[in-house]
Amino acid sequence: MIATTLFGLEPLLKDELEKINAKKIQIGNRCVYFTGNNELMYRANIQLRTALKILKEISIFKSKNEHELYKNINRIKWDKIMTTSQTFSVTSTVNSKYFSHSNYVSLVTKDAIVDQFRKKYNKRPSVDLKNPDFNIHIHISNNNCNISLNSSGKSLHKRGYRTNRFTAPMNEVLAAGMVLLSGWNKQQNLINPMCGSGTLIIEAGLIAKNRAPNIFRNNFSFQNWNDYDNILFNNLKIDIRNREVEFQNNIVGFDISASAIAMARQSVESIKLNDIIKIQGKNFFKSNGEENSIILINPPYGKRIALKQDYYKQLGDTLKQNYINTDAWIISSELEQLKKIGLKPSKKIKLFNGALECKLVKYELYKGSKKFNKFQSE
Ligand SMILES: C[S@@+](CC[C@H](N)C(=O)[O-])C[C@H]1O[C@@H](n2cnc3c(N)ncnc32)[C@H](O)[C@@H]1O
Repeated sequence: MIATTLFGLEPLLKDELEKINAKKIQIGNRCVYFTGNNELMYRANIQLRTALKILKEISIFKSKNEHELYKNINRIKWDKIMTTSQTFSVTSTVNSKYFSHSNYVSLVTKDAIVDQFRKKYNKRPSVDLKNPDFNIHIHISNNNCNISLNSSGKSLHKRGYRTNRFTAPMNEVLAAGMVLLSGWNKQQNLINPMCGSGTLIIEAGLIAKNRAPNIFRNNFSFQNWNDYDNILFNNLKIDIRNREVEFQNNIVGFDISASAIAMARQSVESIKLNDIIKIQGKNFFKSNGEENSIILINPPYGKRIALKQDYYKQLGDTLKQNYINTDAWIISSELEQLKKIGLKPSKKIKLFNGALECKLVKYELYKGSKKFNKFQSE
């Protein structure tokens, strides 16, 4: 099987797969390969915080042109997988000197499937691009073609807790990745200034309670497969919920925008985390940290609305003055602006927030540490 993810999160996904007992785990490019049975596939879909999709390989072959591709797709016994009354879609990723257009590859694949059904049954399953029973994924790397069934359906970052659209929400998988990369050990309070719609605090809350991110989801694509085992799925969910734990510390999110706070509160309630997450209306520049807490910040990047020139400097000054004895992690695409923070980072990790290349940067704000003294004297 293949679990897909975002750039930079592959090692975290590997760790997560090890924890659920996947075998033959191997890191790829924005994905991790592994083996396991159906139970593990269900578990991966429900539990993995840093996976976008779980793909199950059904055929591997070589093709150098559309005719070979069509023939090879046609060799797969599609009526063992779906019926004419079900719907399907085809998606492709292509990185090949033999095939240049992924849409064309999808079209050839779709035709080969449909023609096989027509020939045998005089009927064909329909294509549904929005909500298909089956999503067939074809990955071509040069002449190596890999056909898989997407067991997840819609991407696993769509946890279902968002009740409204926010202007610049973070991808839930990236937010979970940021919390995990910060090394937060749940023994400290976690503070998320500029929390926006609350993605980081919610993912932190799920981690704090050991709650699986997709435990409440009931529309995985594997539920349409003819080998789907409803009893196994339900028992697994009970087992996963029984492993939730109490969380004794605080997770606090705050934002200057009243509409952002309202959205964050709604989402926190919908995923039933209001007992451990507090959300406040507050201006970061007038806020104070708590000693020994961990601070995660996804500030505005200034792409849509220009920021005041000294915005990132003010951010750094607030950390230096009001957040002493904490670790702060900031994610931003604005590398020049990050320099204005005026603190020496102790770690920098390359990530992508959507199409934007970002740095996740760690600042250790401990009195007496070399880095702290350096910026104090600047
Ligand atoms: C990039 S968004 C955060 C998105 C968030 N991670 C999410 O997933 O929804 C930045 C947020 O910073 C907030 N903000 C900007 N300046 C602020 C300040 N001085 N104090 C508190 N919040 C601020 C904005 O209202 C906005 O919600």
